Amino acid sequence: MVYFCLMTKENQDVKNILGLQLPTDPRWVNLAAMQLEDILTDHAYCEQKAATTCISLIQRYPDRTEMVEELAPIVTEEWGHFRMVLAELKKRNLQLGKQRKDEYVNKLLDFQKKDGSVEGRLLDRLLTMALIEARSCERFKRLSENLDDEYMRNFYRRFMESEAGHYTLFITLAEHYLPKEKVRRRWKEWLEFESTMITALDLRGDRIH
Ligand SMILES: [Fe+2]
Ligand SMILES: [Fe+2]
Repeated sequence: MVYFCLMTKENQDVKNILGLQLPTDPRWVNLAAMQLEDILTDHAYCEQKAATTCISLIQRYPDRTEMVEELAPIVTEEWGHFRMVLAELKKRNLQLGKQRKDEYVNKLLDFQKKDGSVEGRLLDRLLTMALIEARSCERFKRLSENLDDEYMRNFYRRFMESEAGHYTLFITLAEHYLPKEKVRRRWKEWLEFESTMITALDLRGDRIH
């Protein structure tokens, strides 16, 4: 993703590329650097949940052929990410810890419209994924630029590039199944909700989100 490297102003970067309204507090990287085992464990579960959710979408919407075909390889990719993080833990003689409550994702799930139309439910499910990918990408970007360890900077850069592609895919799928204007309007609501919600969450170095 060459365009990441071309941008200079962090805020503009985050807004223009991912639509996110609020950049991550710069102190987060310092906290994460001090809790490597925890952050790798949390990251591993983020990848597992990404793979699991793609499988769920395939199970739930088998008749959405384009989506099924697009998401099938993403499952493999996300599971590959899980294995990469697992290998990194092993290399450092660290263990995969227990999965913790994911407040960020739970709050996003609460924001999904539960009483909407079939199309509206699909839209919210796709936009939830797009948002998680966007925020993950932004956090990996932070790590890839600001960690002291060059090896780890490169490690996170690969994830950043991959998740940026997934963010684009989920938005593209939403626009494939729903009118662009409707997607744009709802996406704006999601972005506003996320920026308010993430501000209220504690800044923790043991969480990707
Ligand atoms: Fe991933
Ligand atoms: Fe992803």
